[in-house]
Amino acid sequence: MADTMNNDAFVEFERVQKSYDGENLVVKDLNLSLPKGEFLTMLGPSGSGKTTCLMMLAGFETATYGDIRLDGVSINNIPPHKRGIGMVFQNYALFPHMTVAENLSFPLEVRKMGKSKREEKIIRALDMVQMGDFAGRRPAQLSGGQQQRIALARALVFEPELVLMDEPLGALDKQLRETLQFEITKLAHDLGITTVYVTHDQTEALTMSDRVAVFDDGRIQQLAPPDKLYEEPENSFVAQFIGENNTLEGVVKEIKGDVALVQLDSGEVIQAKPINVTQAGERTRVSIRPERVEYNEERMQDGAFTLKAEVLEFIYMGDIFRTRLRVAGRDDFVIKTRNAPDQARLIPGSQIKIGWLPEDCRALDA
Ligand SMILES: Nc1ncnc2c1ncn2[C@@H]1O[C@H](COP(=O)(O)OP(=O)(O)O)[C@@H](O)[C@H]1O
Ligand SMILES: [Mg+2]
Repeated sequence: MADTMNNDAFVEFERVQKSYDGENLVVKDLNLSLPKGEFLTMLGPSGSGKTTCLMMLAGFETATYGDIRLDGVSINNIPPHKRGIGMVFQNYALFPHMTVAENLSFPLEVRKMGKSKREEKIIRALDMVQMGDFAGRRPAQLSGGQQQRIALARALVFEPELVLMDEPLGALDKQLRETLQFEITKLAHDLGITTVYVTHDQTEALTMSDRVAVFDDGRIQQLAPPDKLYEEPENSFVAQFIGENNTLEGVVKEIKGDVALVQLDSGEVIQAKPINVTQAGERTRVSIRPERVEYNEERMQDGAFTLKAEVLEFIYMGDIFRTRLRVAGRDDFVIKTRNAPDQARLIPGSQIKIGWLPEDCRALDA
């Protein structure tokens, strides 16, 4: 398969499948390659196969089919401790009977490193996670966030080139999670570490990653940088999973180049950008972001497509207004507009006109 090898790839999954019971594939034909230094996140609902992929890369599970390579070398037959991979898991508990320093010393002793070298590395790793004063403590004497910092230090102490993290911040409160998200990405980038990060939290994925692989049902549904994923979802699953989206259902009437005419189930015909629909007669879900819809006619751009709507609910949120509308027979159509002096506050019950650009409206699979 030499012709399919990507020479810049540091981590590669090629046509990887996994079945635990010999019948159902929980990972289906996974192809993924990461260059050195990339921070890639596997994002997806529970049960979509993220942890399984990480476990195969770590060596705790074997692929049923396909090849996994690290730096061009197939690792299918290399045991976990010889892969040189650092790991942090949500419940990857520190050894409770050991001090922080002893916990960090462990991966170095396994690698037969001498005492003075070990001490030097431990101090460095603890400083990296701002835990230099805690070397003598035991895990029980640390908060949850401090324990996760130590787990991170333990994964980094032997200076691995690849670090795997599986929901490492899942058990922490929001504020601490945000602090550590920032610290982890900064450390990874400063040290030039390649990272595969797993989460089911889309905000975490979007804020931390160079690229995000969206998983569903054992497959990557889309692999793209955060902005592209948000702005150009390639299918309905991704459009619904990432951020908020309005969905209108209908049938494709006609596709001409970059424009699809869609007849909504409520009767209106609208223009949309055909993404993964290909022909007339196909059912489609048309998707449009709440912040791409305008109701201030002064602000509507040339070429905007307009529809009638009834205001159902208007929520003043400070920086933005969030309005729920009845549009095309649906009463869950949400728009978000920036709070500005010329932006009217809408009154429930009133009839308005909303508009958007056809290119902001994506015709996706039903
Ligand atoms: N050790 C295992 N034995 C049998 N089935 C498993 C095992 N681990 C995971 N699974 C199943 O594989 C699927 C994918 O699980 P997992 O990789 O843990 O997904 P995720 O991390 O995205 O939540 C699930 O249906 C899960 O029940
Ligand atoms: Mg998991």
